Amino acid sequence: MTTPAAYFRLAHAGWILAREGVIAALPGDQLIGAPRVAWQFARKLARRRSRSHDAADRMSKAVDRLGPSYVKLGQFLATRPDVVGGDVANQLARLQDRMATFPTALARAEIEESLGRPVDELFLTLEEPIAAASIAQVHPGTIDRQGRVEKVAVKVIRPGVRRRFANDLEGFFLAAHMQERFIPSARRLKPVEVAKTLAQTTRIEMDLRLEAAALSELGENTAADPGFRVPWVDWERTGRDVITMEWIDGIKMSDVEAMQAAGHDFKRIAANLIQSFLRHTLRDGFFHADMHPGNLFVEPDGTIVAVDLGIAGRLGKKERRFLAEILYGFITRDYVRVAEVHFEAGYVPRTHDVRAFAQAIRAIGEPIHGQPAETISMARLLTLLFEVTELFDMETRSELLLLQKTMVVVEGVARSLDPAFNMWKTAEPVVGDWIRANLGPRGFAEDARDAAFALAALARQAPDIAARTERLSREIDAMAEDGLRFDDETAAKIGKAEARHTRSGRIALWLIAATLVWIAVQVA
Ligand SMILES: Nc1ncnc2c1ncn2[C@@H]1O[C@H](COP(=O)(O)OP(=O)(O)O)[C@@H](O)[C@H]1O
Ligand SMILES: [Mg+2]
Repeated sequence: MTTPAAYFRLAHAGWILAREGVIAALPGDQLIGAPRVAWQFARKLARRRSRSHDAADRMSKAVDRLGPSYVKLGQFLATRPDVVGGDVANQLARLQDRMATFPTALARAEIEESLGRPVDELFLTLEEPIAAASIAQVHPGTIDRQGRVEKVAVKVIRPGVRRRFANDLEGFFLAAHMQERFIPSARRLKPVEVAKTLAQTTRIEMDLRLEAAALSELGENTAADPGFRVPWVDWERTGRDVITMEWIDGIKMSDVEAMQAAGHDFKRIAANLIQSFLRHTLRDGFFHADMHPGNLFVEPDGTIVAVDLGIAGRLGKKERRFLAEILYGFITRDYVRVAEVHFEAGYVPRTHDVRAFAQAIRAIGEPIHGQPAETISMARLLTLLFEVTELFDMETRSELLLLQKTMVVVEGVARSLDPAFNMWKTAEPVVGDWIRANLGPRGFAEDARDAAFALAALARQAPDIAARTERLSREIDAMAEDGLRFDDETAAKIGKAEARHTRSGRIALWLIAATLVWIAVQVA
């Protein structure tokens, strides 16, 4: 049930978005009729000073005023360019989740409430918070662990945040329902579905026992792996609203200067990071999905320690195999195979023509083979691939989207550490091993060897690449001239996708227009 308060909160949000100039910054030129009037009205409402800032800046100001749920909404939408469009997604990705700390006294009260024991009995010391975000803050502390004093990190949920989320989520659902009800073309984007997913992920993030469980699972998976670990969990001092874990005394990967000063080997760390991530993904099917440099520590011996496991991703056997086969297919330039894999997995309906699909995939794969290996990005390849698969009605696989999003981040971190970073050479030992061990049983041993060779060859740079690049550029010229390379079906798909893009822009504007009407109603 939607309460009247939800309408009011939504209207209030619309007001702030208008005042901070977020709405004015959206492209409204293509609008006609009432929505255009509403948009022009929103431009008038924008504060004068907000007009001079760039869009990302405006967005972060607005979100700051709107509070934690909107930070989460923004971050969540940043992972869904299929819903909000690429530009908005990139701007949202720049939102910083940093907030003022709340008093330690409140944190202590929460710990006692959640664990049912006095803080002084649980901890030897509990210090002032060192970091705070929308959902929680972190305090350093010490505990007595079997007679030894151990330093710990204590993460405590922000007081009242659960209530606030519940309220704001009601507003999000209301907006989503309004979209589906009044704007039929918005239904394809499944706004209610999006709101549900957001509700589910934040519910998980707000239960710190689940973060503890994820830490412990990743810890078990990686117990025997060199160069990567996670802090141990202190279950005795962990509950829904508090998690206690080993304190990590390393340098944050975001602090490049400190890493340099400590004499760390950047190339080795970059390779280690990628190999660890791929191992977790392919071998275990369980990966840390928030691997930005602020969540990664480096210990004196170069070991990477990951914290902040509020978001983790899972890939089933099928998805892992799908992923490995795609990488293998791109490397060996077997585009029909890459296309086939999508049909076999049941991701793309059989009604589509494999060859037309393979052709679209070739358009992604060939240019890549013409580039120097160290500039070829696996994450970019997956991104392009998912853009194409969308044209062929591939159902949105949220676990694969999460993987692709994480890979963009992880690869970006590796490249920032080592500009000459070669993704394929680095990936080979892990991907090759996995293929050798898993794409069995018979006949596959050889394939696997080929795959490993192909990976190595790509890493080394095949000598015929120059010739291939030339051929490709000739093909592109020809295509530009007569447009013959794309058959009718492919062309129709692209047309459809473009239409969709403008449509989703309009949907966003319609929603905003509706919100403005609500403001008017509230004010009147
Ligand atoms: N185990 C730990 N050891 C040392 N510092 C930690 C630990 N866990 C978290 N921190 C510090 O607290 C910050 C916030 O914790 P994090 O788990 O990343 O929460 P958030 O979701 O707010 O980003 C981290 O960036 C890090 O500086
Ligand atoms: Mg963090």
